[in-house]
Amino acid sequence: MTEPSAVAISMQHVYKSFGPKEVLHDLSIDIERNESVVIVGGSGTGKSVTLKHIIGLLKPDRGEVYVDGKEISDMPPRELNRFRTRFGMSFQEGALFDSMSVFENIAFPLRRHTEMTEDEIRSRVAECLEQVHLSGIEEKRPSELSGGMRRRVGFARAISLKPEILLFDEPTTGLDPVFSDVVADLIVEMDQTLKTTTVTITHDMKVAFKIADRVAMLYGGAIVEQGSPADFQQSKNPIVQQFIEGRAKGPLTD
Ligand SMILES: Nc1ncnc2c1ncn2[C@@H]1O[C@H](COP(=O)(O)OP(=O)(O)OP(=O)(O)O)[C@@H](O)[C@H]1O
Ligand SMILES: [Mg+2]
Repeated sequence: MTEPSAVAISMQHVYKSFGPKEVLHDLSIDIERNESVVIVGGSGTGKSVTLKHIIGLLKPDRGEVYVDGKEISDMPPRELNRFRTRFGMSFQEGALFDSMSVFENIAFPLRRHTEMTEDEIRSRVAECLEQVHLSGIEEKRPSELSGGMRRRVGFARAISLKPEILLFDEPTTGLDPVFSDVVADLIVEMDQTLKTTTVTITHDMKVAFKIADRVAMLYGGAIVEQGSPADFQQSKNPIVQQFIEGRAKGPLTD
């Protein structure tokens, strides 16, 4: 048997335009198994678009996206659907079903993709809620929960199928600083206890530095800088410096 490659996700020279607007321009990045990579960048730079390429919701105009060595950018829809069960994704839009209880929300992927019995589903949902420190709220409706709790129920749903890869799009947006920190801690904890490869998008640098093994900055359609939080913070790249400091004046806004 050959050793599995250390690289879990590889984007190679990806280009993507929507009409005349080019969003990704020769973007390449390799993400290792069990690594936690945070992609940062300004609004509208293509962070969500990048994540959607990783999960195969968008296809590159040019270039390739590999997950576990398999090119998902040209996988047939059926195979892609099956492949997606390896991913747990928490979307920027939240996307809980408001008409369903917390239990039914988390059970949804289990009913759809597994043959688990009702008892097995009950116990898996309870486990997932425990992982996000929300035990016992199965019968609540999403509308009864605070924003932070809803976010965590979204995480519980994302991990229900025991994914190898977790993707978080703006997991702390709209949360107060204390709660952002709680959610960041939770992502670190999930990444460690579940041993997942984790890709997170955020523009909150505090969150980024907390959860990242590696921070990568998206600018002009490509990764312009990447490194450990310590190295990233010391980057001499003026674009990175302006972003970290949140300054209005600089190359990002010229
Ligand atoms: N399906 C689509 N059709 C057309 N344009 C799109 C589509 N998806 C994204 N875009 C455009 O691509 C650009 C990048 O979008 P994206 O959502 O990736 O930005 P982002 O970096 O995630 O921004 P934010 O921080 O605001 O979430 C935007 O100009 C957006 O309007
Ligand atoms: Mg986005």
